[in-house]
Amino acid sequence: MTEDLLSAELISEGLETLLTGKKVLYYPEVGSTNETARQEAGRGAPEGTVVIAGKQTQGRGRLKRSWMTPEGNIALSVILYPQMAFMPSLIMVASLAAARAIESATGMETQIKWPNDVLINGRKVCGILIETDIRPERVNYAVIGIGINVNMKIEELAGVRTPATSLSHETGGEVSRLKILRALLENMDALYHILLSGGSVFAEWRDRLVTLGQEVRVTAGDTAFEGIAESVNSDGSLIVRRQDGRLERVVAGDVTLRR
Ligand code: BTN
Repeated sequence: MTEDLLSAELISEGLETLLTGKKVLYYPEVGSTNETARQEAGRGAPEGTVVIAGKQTQGRGRLKRSWMTPEGNIALSVILYPQMAFMPSLIMVASLAAARAIESATGMETQIKWPNDVLINGRKVCGILIETDIRPERVNYAVIGIGINVNMKIEELAGVRTPATSLSHETGGEVSRLKILRALLENMDALYHILLSGGSVFAEWRDRLVTLGQEVRVTAGDTAFEGIAESVNSDGSLIVRRQDGRLERVVAGDVTLRR
């Protein structure tokens, strides 16, 4: 692999954003960027502060899983102080920003698997973990954590439970993390500002979902069932028609595409 150097200056220089990435904290290695970002948010870091790592040693995934970030990939967390009403849209903002950034930087087509995995050719290339500190009626902070498999050999992904891929595997060559990072921050900023100005990102997110119309298996807490994913609500919940005809609204959980 040739050098694809990262630094706070290279990431933030000339970035076309209003708040995202105005402050960038780059660490060659951290446990989890989400954990570092939570600590920074607790200390009152400005909104849009980004924590980026060259490598994570204790990366966290959804549903208490772990997330691998060896050198060559992207692990970043963005600190936001959103209104409570924006919370359901953060998943949409994050997954759309990642999908758009990957597409613009690589020319590859992406899909979003509900609620926020980004796929290429049906395999997961990006995962998102949003962690929040919510006090009654008020969001103290939200940390949007995004992990992208960039320059990773397919063999390194062998132990991962979901079918996974990396950008280098899909494009057949090394991919610039810097290019993707900058596109990601610019898209995050633009999409978040749509929310701030009273707009919605729902339609684009819904239209990119590969899940709709598919047979799915839903696992949520202790329950699991199968059905057809029929639609999504504007609050991000997934509507699944069970085999017995009943409709279920899924707010959180794991959804596997059956084909
Ligand atoms: C998933 O399970 O799909 C979510 C994975 C989220 C991984 C990212 S990498 C940057 C940030 N820091 C973490 O510890 N996790 C998220």
